[in-house]
Amino acid sequence: MDRQAMRELLKEHNEQGWEAIWRLSDSPPWDNGQVQPLLRHYIEKRGLPLPEPSRDVKVLVPGCGKGYDVLYFASLGYTAVGMDISPEGVRLANAFMEKQGDVKGAEVRCADFFVHEEQYDVVYDYTFFCAIPLHKREEYAARMKRIVKAGGLLITLVFPIKEELVDGVEQGPPFGYTPQVYTKLLGEGFEQVLDEYPPIEVDNRGIKRMNAFKRAA
Ligand SMILES: C[S@@+](CC[C@H](N)C(=O)[O-])C[C@H]1O[C@@H](n2cnc3c(N)ncnc32)[C@H](O)[C@@H]1O
Repeated sequence: MDRQAMRELLKEHNEQGWEAIWRLSDSPPWDNGQVQPLLRHYIEKRGLPLPEPSRDVKVLVPGCGKGYDVLYFASLGYTAVGMDISPEGVRLANAFMEKQGDVKGAEVRCADFFVHEEQYDVVYDYTFFCAIPLHKREEYAARMKRIVKAGGLLITLVFPIKEELVDGVEQGPPFGYTPQVYTKLLGEGFEQVLDEYPPIEVDNRGIKRMNAFKRAA
C-alpha cells in the first residue's frame, strides 16, 4: 500500500479508514518495525526529562499502531498504555507483544483518543498528531490538557516538519507541522522544556525534531 492509497481510504471513510488500512496491510507505510530510534536515543543518551521509572508512572502512546514504543516504555519500568482506534491494529499489536514473551507493564487498548478520559504522567506522540486531520488539532490540544497530569510531560517527536501547507491545501497524512504549532495550540499551561534537531548520525533526514512540554503543576 502506498501513501496515496492510504489517503484515499481516509478521505472516503474518515476515522474508519484506519481499520481499512490495517486490514489491507500489517505493515503500512509508516510502520518501521521497531522502537523509534530517536526515542531510544533521547532516553538512553540525552536524558529526556522523564520521571524515574516505576510502575506507578503511567505513560500513554496514542495512535500506537503495532505498539513498539509501548513495549519500550514498559521495558524501562513504566506502566505503558498504547491506544489505537483500529481493532485490527490493536490485534496486531497484541500479537506482536505475545511474540516478545513475558512482557510486563504494557497494554494496548482499542479506543478513540478524542474521547479518552484517563490521566497520565507522560504522553508520547510520534506520528499520531500528523495523522489526524487539521480541523481536529484544537480538539487534540484540548484533550491533552485533560489527560496530561499536572506536572506531567507531553513528548512529541515532531514529524514531518513543514512550515506551510503545500499550496495552501491539506496534503496528508502525514500533515506537516512545526513545534510552534504545538506551542500555540497548547497555550500557557505547558512549558516547552526541549526543542532539538536530532543529531545527524541518528537521523539524517532533518525533518524531525524532539520536543517536550511540561504541564504546569
Ligand atoms: C500514522 S499511524 C502511526 C502509528 C505508530 N505511532 C507508529 O509510529 O508506528 C497513526 C495511528 O493512529 C491511529 N489512530 C487514528 N485516529 C485515532 C484516534 N482518534 N484514536 C486512536 N488512534 C487513532 C491509526 O489507527 C494508526 O494506527
